[in-house]
Amino acid sequence: METIRLGQNGVAVTPLCIGTWAWGDKLFWNYGNNYGAEELENAFKAALDAGVTFFDTAEVYGTGLSEKYLGEFLKQANKPVQIATKYAPLPWRVTGTAVKDALTASLHRLRVEQVDLYQVHWSFAFLMSQHTLMNALADEVQSGRIRAVGVSNYTAEQMREAQQILARRGVPLAVNQVRYSLLSRQVESKGIIETARELGVTILAYSPLAQGLLTGKYAANNNTIPTGARKVDPRFRPEGLRKIEPVISLLRQIGDKYGRTPAQVALNWLICQGNVIPIAGVKTAQQVVQNVGALGWRLSHEEVTELELATRDWLN
Ligand SMILES: NC(=O)c1ccc[n+]([C@@H]2O[C@H](COP(=O)([O-])OP(=O)(O)OC[C@H]3O[C@@H](n4cnc5c(N)ncnc54)[C@H](OP(=O)(O)O)[C@@H]3O)[C@@H](O)[C@H]2O)c1
Repeated sequence: METIRLGQNGVAVTPLCIGTWAWGDKLFWNYGNNYGAEELENAFKAALDAGVTFFDTAEVYGTGLSEKYLGEFLKQANKPVQIATKYAPLPWRVTGTAVKDALTASLHRLRVEQVDLYQVHWSFAFLMSQHTLMNALADEVQSGRIRAVGVSNYTAEQMREAQQILARRGVPLAVNQVRYSLLSRQVESKGIIETARELGVTILAYSPLAQGLLTGKYAANNNTIPTGARKVDPRFRPEGLRKIEPVISLLRQIGDKYGRTPAQVALNWLICQGNVIPIAGVKTAQQVVQNVGALGWRLSHEEVTELELATRDWLN
């Protein structure tokens, strides 16, 4: 499997990342109802079998359960795995020590001494300044507990500021993890993609399948009802589903030429942007296998453009 370096010459990872928000999360994803620990372990193994070794988690996912599962599965892994996790800038976390303590707890749950990437989950840090936050992260790079620093949900300006503070400590900003898919292209219109390229920051695209919409399995003319919080999301209601029909139909049409599914085409479109690694959220081994089918081939330049034109409405 080819690898990509995060940021400027950072950690080498696979061109697809496996998202683990749903691993133990009852609140949004309804964990424990139609999937459980066994499915997750099989999903983990399927990723490794397919050569995908990059996983994204966060301390808040399943209030720590996602990291715990990964830690358990990692113990049985027979090859090196790259783990990205996230620090939550919660209101009561006001000093640099909070970063240190949160990282200690994450490392404990993950049963490792170092993570490959440690990201700030969102930009608003309440009473902690970005200066304090970035310096605390730089300290952890120096102490060897994290290999690379990332941010998430940062605007172009916030990303630039974080990059500058870290640069003073000789630490590169490796990634900005943002919502990005054919149905969420605001990062393009808001200059985040362009600024990341300029700064040498890799984009990790979260919700690359628009939480399942781009698989085409949720449609106005069938009875597939999403689980969990998506039930109240207007995008999953008949009107929302009808709006995306032309996009799904184009994904199918293009996919048919390659013997690929809409999900695989949607992930491939992100990869074709360059400097972008999609983080596909999965619950089962089957989903892993299908999503890995987004690798090893490429849409033509014309097809990339055609998809861009069909999703102009999602730029804003
Ligand atoms: N930094 C942040 O603020 C942030 C925010 C959100 C997510 N993330 C990260 O990004 C990851 C991915 O985002 P996401 O989970 O929101 O959305 P996503 O990857 O767009 O969609 C994931 C969901 O789509 C369905 N799915 C996935 N692959 C499929 C396949 N091949 N066939 C059919 N259905 C499939 C599954 O749900 P069903 O089977 O139930 O439909 C799965 O849970 C997360 O796990 C997390 O690591 C980060």
